[in-house]
Amino acid sequence: MTELTTDADVEVGREVLTFPPDFLWGAATAAFQIEGSTTADGRGASIWDTFAATPGKVLAGDTGDPACDHYNRYQSDVDLMKSLGLAAYRFSIAWPRIQPSGSGKVEERGLAFYDRLVDSLLEKDIQPLATLYHWDLPQVLEDFGGWRNRDTAYRFAEYAAIVHERLGDRVQAWTTLNEPWVSAFLGYGNGIHAPGVTDAVASLEAAHHLLLAHGLATQALRAQAPESHRLSIVLNFSTVWGDDAEAVRKVDGLQNRILLDPVLGRGYPLDVLQDTTWLGDWTNVVRDGDMETIATPVDWIGVNYYNPTRVAPTADPDFVTAGPHAGLRGVEIQPGQGELTGFGWEQNADAFTELLVRLSQHVDGIPLVVTENGSAFPDVVDPAGRVNDVQRTKYLLDHVRAVHRAISEGADVRGYLAWSLLDNFEWAAGYSQRFGIVHVDFETQQRTIKESAVALSRIIGQNGLPAHGYTV
Ligand code: FCB
Repeated sequence: MTELTTDADVEVGREVLTFPPDFLWGAATAAFQIEGSTTADGRGASIWDTFAATPGKVLAGDTGDPACDHYNRYQSDVDLMKSLGLAAYRFSIAWPRIQPSGSGKVEERGLAFYDRLVDSLLEKDIQPLATLYHWDLPQVLEDFGGWRNRDTAYRFAEYAAIVHERLGDRVQAWTTLNEPWVSAFLGYGNGIHAPGVTDAVASLEAAHHLLLAHGLATQALRAQAPESHRLSIVLNFSTVWGDDAEAVRKVDGLQNRILLDPVLGRGYPLDVLQDTTWLGDWTNVVRDGDMETIATPVDWIGVNYYNPTRVAPTADPDFVTAGPHAGLRGVEIQPGQGELTGFGWEQNADAFTELLVRLSQHVDGIPLVVTENGSAFPDVVDPAGRVNDVQRTKYLLDHVRAVHRAISEGADVRGYLAWSLLDNFEWAAGYSQRFGIVHVDFETQQRTIKESAVALSRIIGQNGLPAHGYTV
């Protein structure tokens, strides 16, 4: 059982790490991963419905139904969040529920669902953080080229305005896109995510149009709420480690800087364009004014971090990387070291501190919010009905301490949202990877609070945690 830190700990000299008073604590989810009810209330198909229905794309043929049946159980899930003391909840809105055909006609029943969700969060004093796009593009838009088609960016801005118009009186914190890097390079590059396209040029078109969509939507939201100071984009980052500075620079460029720098107004990083075998063609999709639109100021940047990336130069200088870092010459991605998560990802909290400190400097004072951080392990509910997820609890504590360390080293980090509130549909891995701090039995929809959730709850309660050990 996770041990509670009490005032007595402080009295006996147990060192306690305290966070800034207004630090935001919570957990995150995404629509397609938890909602289920994929055809309810007029929802249109998304690219993930199509992808999951295609044999061989998602492990074990898993689909988005019923997922966590959150569409029907949102009220009790909000109660659960309250019982854990969450102060914030990051969720995403399913575009195909709002505009089933990707543009034009608005489905009132879809909007009404998020209306109810937001109201119940506010009733419980839980701050809603809404993400407008977490990968579930309406299939109809994909039929016209999806993110390869520039028009999709304009459709996204219209959709963003519709949702903001409806919820903006109650939701202050908005994220345009979650991890456009993954949408572009895994969705259109190596094809392991929907829509499953494998085409380097398509992936760079997608990346540019996603960023354009972000810029246009940020402008649309800002126009509706000029006073807003909570507009953001969420990007995925990894600390790149290796003995060879050139190898590190190359992978860091393609992993971390390629989409961040344009958002910061610095354009696409030239070294990355030169490093890769295919990015040079980018100029074909960039039109006059695009880079200014993409650089529309954001108020904070969401950081999704899971693990470091280790790299090394290859003996053969002409070796070209495949996979998500495709097209880099003379470097290779190496396996993670030390303890790995159930998903095979390296667990390394020092890398997290390093990332946050460096990133905070790189973004020149824009505040950071940790919008996702977590780990997957094959949890089981024990005969006493408990889930003692020791490894996830350790990961959580180590990484929360890493955030504290980063703040004390000068990083401007304003919040920490654990991924994820619930075990859920983990994209191409289906239901095989459990990231939740709450266990979900997908047969019965029974929720069981894991020890990691108890730990997070206590961290939130005391706005801090002991400096050492794996109990709080
Ligand atoms: C991130 C995604 C999130 C989840 C975690 C494990 O890349 O944003 O939906 O799948 O990884």
